[in-house]
Amino acid sequence: MHLLVTGGAGFIGSNFVHHLVDTTDHQVTTLDALTYAGDRSNLDGTLSNDRHEFVEGDIRDRELVTELAADADAIVNFAAESHVDRSINDTEPFVSTNVQGTQVLLDVSREVDIERFVQISTDEVYGEILDGTFAESDPPDPRNPYAATKASADLLAHSFYVTYDLPVVITRSSNNYGPRQHPEKLIPKFIKHAADGESLPLYGDGSNVREWTYVFDNCRAVERVLKEGDPGEIYNIGSGHELQNIEITRKILDEVGASEDLIEFVEDRPGHDQRYALDTEKIEALGWEPEWSFEQGLEETVEYYL
Ligand SMILES: NC(=O)c1ccc[n+]([C@@H]2O[C@H](COP(=O)([O-])OP(=O)(O)OC[C@H]3O[C@@H](n4cnc5c(N)ncnc54)[C@H](O)[C@@H]3O)[C@@H](O)[C@H]2O)c1
Repeated sequence: MHLLVTGGAGFIGSNFVHHLVDTTDHQVTTLDALTYAGDRSNLDGTLSNDRHEFVEGDIRDRELVTELAADADAIVNFAAESHVDRSINDTEPFVSTNVQGTQVLLDVSREVDIERFVQISTDEVYGEILDGTFAESDPPDPRNPYAATKASADLLAHSFYVTYDLPVVITRSSNNYGPRQHPEKLIPKFIKHAADGESLPLYGDGSNVREWTYVFDNCRAVERVLKEGDPGEIYNIGSGHELQNIEITRKILDEVGASEDLIEFVEDRPGHDQRYALDTEKIEALGWEPEWSFEQGLEETVEYYL
């Protein structure tokens, strides 16, 4: 199978490309615009493999996407503007890449009769949940501009399945952590600050809860959905490892061997969702389950960034 992986120089996409090159015999073309969030060096070790080609380019470039998709059997779309705080400051690039970029990929997929289109989405499209878990049948209720653009892309992708019979599957994963993540995100930022003896700026009172999935487990789940997911379906991906932000901060400080005095409570993010949590029964029915405990994953992650 020949896969076109977009956003493959970013955090999750690059781990997915490593996973494909290391554990499958698929041919892989990575398309990435190398925005501030993308880094070619995330693909070190895969670029010399003749089953992998890297193309620097934009998913909104219809001509380029058409040329690349013509040779592909499937598209896995990780490309996105992904940082909530940035979306609060400027929504434009989020609408442009996350919605219009996805539209280009879907249009082209129709034209070239792609066999499979995997849209990588997020638990944030459901909005917050104070008790219990979200199932795939729950309606989107995004509460920040990033999540709203991801929900829009999901709806558009699903409409291509219903209207044109395009074989679209959607994955919605919880927060990922692990190697190759941009240092603007909570875990790499806090590891670095802790190691450098700098303060760890924690939003609000630190009580917000996130479910943390090790990135390798998410990559295995995406591969499973790519192979075995039913067209038109959504699959939640999560680990069940729920932690308040204050708890994860303490664990990082403990792992790095730094003092809790470095924690600095700062003004909360506007519209900060209190808690996300996912029901993952549907993907488990495909034979997937997380392999990494949070303790193992955090240990590896801290070691990687240090
Ligand atoms: N990180 C998480 O915890 C998480 C959780 C759930 C879902 N997701 C989703 O997973 C996907 C990947 O997230 P990530 O954390 O790896 O993001 P990231 O910001 O690390 O990577 C995004 C990549 O997309 C590329 N890109 C951005 N705009 C592009 C464009 N117009 N054309 C081509 N490439 C472009 C960037 O250069 C970068 O390499 C996103 O769709 C995100 O919404 C992420």
